[in-house]
Amino acid sequence: MNSVYHIPALKKDCIELLNIKPNGVYVDATFGGGGHSSAILEHLTTGKLLGFDQDIHTQKNIPLNPRFLWINDNFSNITHQLHEHGIKKVDGILADLGVSFHQFDTAERGFSFRFENANLDMRMNLHSDLTAAMVLNEYSEENLADIFYYYGEIKSAKKLAFHVIQYRKNIKIQKIKDLLHICGYVFPEHLIKSYLPQIFQALRIEVNQELEHLKSFLQQTTDLLNPHGRLVVISYHSLEDRIVKNFMKSGNVEGVLEKDFYGNQQVPWKIITKKPIVPTDEEIFENPRSRSAKLRVVEKI
Ligand SMILES: C[S@@+](CC[C@H](N)C(=O)[O-])C[C@H]1O[C@@H](n2cnc3c(N)ncnc32)[C@H](O)[C@@H]1O
Repeated sequence: MNSVYHIPALKKDCIELLNIKPNGVYVDATFGGGGHSSAILEHLTTGKLLGFDQDIHTQKNIPLNPRFLWINDNFSNITHQLHEHGIKKVDGILADLGVSFHQFDTAERGFSFRFENANLDMRMNLHSDLTAAMVLNEYSEENLADIFYYYGEIKSAKKLAFHVIQYRKNIKIQKIKDLLHICGYVFPEHLIKSYLPQIFQALRIEVNQELEHLKSFLQQTTDLLNPHGRLVVISYHSLEDRIVKNFMKSGNVEGVLEKDFYGNQQVPWKIITKKPIVPTDEEIFENPRSRSAKLRVVEKI
């Protein structure tokens, strides 16, 4: 296992673009290894930072800083949690989506196809009920095909779903090697490796209901941010990025531009990054896992 918990992507850009006020209240919606949080804390004097993460393992990264509060919950519960802590408005929200290195590099979490003997788990929240093995053993063929097609953008989604069903008639799908075996019936041997990231992405999105939670979270940020407060989001694949882009462009996750009676557009945001910021070649060289990061920022009007 890699001993580094996580290396935060685009850290300098995130901090600059959050435009931190030393006495402001900020949310790191995806605390993880706390790399972004520590950088935010360096800019606070009397302010406050609330760090959300649904993964209990992140508890060990809590900084010894009285300005920081760790909240072990899904970021889609942001409004409820902030209200519980007596906070109605914040000055900035950062979300660095996806999985941490720790999750990816810990065999038993089941996020990486490198660990053939690991169980197909893929839960970020270890208290939730649904695992990837359950998805593969219990979902209908049609449902599985949709997940592979829409969340993994896999063209042979139907064929893959068919072989999942055939396999599980005889053997319970439990370990990553079961899934690798199934892939052997669907893809040419030399191409299997190139399909695995998409297949794993699809299952991970379903297990963690990632897109639904992201949409719910984004929709709540509009009311939570003070005027001039910023929303800073890093996404790592096109499905997430499309949702973030639509939301920032239109104020809703469908991306529909709404107009008032006079024909004026009803967008609560000023766009700060006309195009997404991506890592430099130097950052990608030092941290190859940052290569798909896309950073988008808006400011509440
Ligand atoms: C890419 S890592 C963030 C790393 C962090 N920025 C750092 O500097 O270490 C993503 C983290 O967000 C958490 N996460 C992902 N989706 C979440 C959600 N819907 N609610 C709460 N935490 C979530 C994951 O458990 C993971 O720890």
